[in-house]
Amino acid sequence: MIDVVRVPLGDRAYDVRIGRGLLARAGGEIAPLLTQPRVAVIADETVAGLHLDALRSGLASRGISMVSLNLPAGEGTKSWEHFSHSVEWLLDQKIERGDVVIAFGGGVIGDLVGFAAAVLRRGVRFVQIPTSLLAQVDSSVGGKTGINSKHGKNLIGAFHQPSLVLADIDILGTLTARDFLSGYGEVVKYGLLGDADFFEWLESNGPALAAGDLVLRQEAVRRSVQMKADIVGRDETEQGERALLNLGHTFCHALENATGYCDRLLHGEGVAIGCALAFETSARLGLCSQEAPSRVRAHLKAMGMKTDISDIPGNLPDADTLMGLMLQDKKMLGGKLHFVMVHGIGDAFVTSDVDPDVVKSVLSDALS
Ligand code: GLY
Repeated sequence: MIDVVRVPLGDRAYDVRIGRGLLARAGGEIAPLLTQPRVAVIADETVAGLHLDALRSGLASRGISMVSLNLPAGEGTKSWEHFSHSVEWLLDQKIERGDVVIAFGGGVIGDLVGFAAAVLRRGVRFVQIPTSLLAQVDSSVGGKTGINSKHGKNLIGAFHQPSLVLADIDILGTLTARDFLSGYGEVVKYGLLGDADFFEWLESNGPALAAGDLVLRQEAVRRSVQMKADIVGRDETEQGERALLNLGHTFCHALENATGYCDRLLHGEGVAIGCALAFETSARLGLCSQEAPSRVRAHLKAMGMKTDISDIPGNLPDADTLMGLMLQDKKMLGGKLHFVMVHGIGDAFVTSDVDPDVVKSVLSDALS
């Protein structure tokens, strides 16, 4: 069964289709968008090795031909260099204004290709085929596209909504356990920010879905995407509510920066640790009960996930340096750092009224 979540954005509304076997059906799914039977695919090279032939035959089954460009896996690909290479390649392929570009990979490829589609010929349509759990539940939905700068992550980009998202649940079976659990950090985030029932459901079903239960995986993706679609539908460009999706991310971005955006800390791992730190900070500020952070940490630990700063291998800078990195985060407004804090599980809110000394003490304790 295919679940369909509509992202309600007026004349730019689109479907996120979630289910098994979508790669094999890609031709039929994408054909209605095409003005001529060909597409350009930009793929993560690891994903391409595993799944590009399946996508090619899924498209060919409806007479659609494809050209493809493979890019290296990893955060380093979200750079000016790979961005300009991708745009020039799309022009070399004579991609026209009415054509469709496909992003085939995880969050890095989705963000980069979406940004390339946003600027190519002043904007062409694109389809997201997210292949990581993180990309299926978060980055492929909502139209945030972009690349990184030496000044920080995602500082260069555009809002450009895809025309369709195909989240094939079978593909998740080829992820490493670590990559799957990293994406699960973003799934947990949804429960923590706005749906206590979903968090409770994850406490019960998380271990089985991590072990491979496909029905539970599809349900977790569907519920996550539905929450994101609802929020994006109300606040596409993050004037307010959408910022809740950044729960844990200010801590996460500082930790990713401190670890050099490398294998020491995957993004979703940083989100999970960041959520635990956001709950701890909220508890110390008297905004939520002391039990809430303990319950969050207990679930992350039960899932075998990185939960605490001490779970990150290697040395980390001190609390002052991490605070400095947090101040570089793009969620600064009028010189004040905006945090997503919580009143409890499923009840997040945005505030600029957070005492930096409390944040620093949370970080110092976590580092000691
Ligand atoms: N990943 C956060 C957002 O899309 O707003």
